[in-house]
Amino acid sequence: MLISTEQLEQRVGELGLEISRDYADKDLVMVGVLRGAVIFIADLLRQLEVPCEIDFMAVSSYGSSRDSSGVVRILKDLDDSITGRDVLIVEDIVDSGLTLNYLMRNLQARDPASIEVCSLLTKPERRRVEIPIRYVGFEIPNTFVVGYGLDYGQHYRNLDYVAELPDDTEPSL
Ligand code: IMP
Repeated sequence: MLISTEQLEQRVGELGLEISRDYADKDLVMVGVLRGAVIFIADLLRQLEVPCEIDFMAVSSYGSSRDSSGVVRILKDLDDSITGRDVLIVEDIVDSGLTLNYLMRNLQARDPASIEVCSLLTKPERRRVEIPIRYVGFEIPNTFVVGYGLDYGQHYRNLDYVAELPDDTEPSL
């Protein structure tokens, strides 16, 4: 185990307070990145004390391996317009940064009033493009993690803590 249920709860609460303060007079739309951010955004949303809408995008960059291909495909786009609104992208983890780099440029082109990022986890050692991440839950070392929404080959999302995946785990598990 890398991050316990209690640590997750506490940090998500802190992020909720910080975001509530920063977006008090804004027009907040949280954009969850499917599928990994689902549990995080659901918990974070319930900690917010300001009005907010949620929308989702689904992107694929990995297949079922552990490394980003850098080629990002949009599998599901937003349902609503973000023009003139204050967008907060909610991610599970920023690894190479390639997915987020693509997403930010794509969403920026739609003329939001502002665009920021909130990621539960970040692995700074793995970064290939620098991305400004306004809200970070936890910085973690260069290791592959699962649980609390994060998967390996679609498994382990249901764990209510974050765990390191042993290096020799088969891709089919
Ligand atoms: P990036 O484009 O390399 O930053 O990768 C971002 C996406 O890769 C995340 O949104 C995750 O879906 C996935 N990912 C990166 N690292 C991990 C990990 O340690 N566990 C599970 N998924 C990961």
